[in-house]
Amino acid sequence: MYAFLVHLHPAASLLSLAATLAWGWAAMSHSAGAGMTGRRKGLYVAAMATTGFAGLTGLAITVAGPWSQMVFPYVGLAAVAGHGMAGKAVKGALMRGGRGITAFGVSLQAVILLAAAGIMATKPF
Ligand code: HEM
Repeated sequence: MYAFLVHLHPAASLLSLAATLAWGWAAMSHSAGAGMTGRRKGLYVAAMATTGFAGLTGLAITVAGPWSQMVFPYVGLAAVAGHGMAGKAVKGALMRGGRGITAFGVSLQAVILLAAAGIMATKPF
C-alpha cells in the first residue's frame, strides 16, 4: 500500500499543477470576459479537488512512512491551504471583475505548488 501511495502522491501533485495551470489560464483569458463561466467553474473545482487529493496522499505517506518527524510534509499542509485561499480570492475577484487580484492569485497558486514540489523533492528540512 505504501509503495503504491508513494508513487501516487507525486502523480497527484502533477495533476494538481496541470489543473491549476488550466484554471489559471481560463481565469485570465480575456475572451471569456468576467464572471465564473461554466469552464472556469469546472476548472476551479478540478484544481481544488486535485490539490486536495495531493494533500491527502501526502498525509497518508507521512503517517505510513518514515516522514512524520520531518518538517517538510507539514509545508505541504500550508501549501494546500495557501493554494485554496488564493483560489477562493481569484473566484471572488472574477465575480467582481477585478483583473489585478486574478493575475496575482493564479500566479501565487502556481508558485505555491512549484515551491511545495521543490521542497518535497529535495527535502531540505
Ligand atoms: C498535506 C500535504 C502534503 C504532505 C503531508 C506531503 C508529504 C510528502 C512526503 C512525506 C513526501 C516524501 C515521499 C518520498 O520522497 O518518498 C512527499 C514527496 C513529494 N511531494 Fe508531497 N506532501 C504534501 C503535499 C504536496 C503538494 C501540494 C505537492 C505539490 C503540488 C507535493 C509534491 C511532492 C513531490 C513532487 C514529492 C517528491 C516525490 C519523489 O521524490 O518521489 N506534495 N510529500
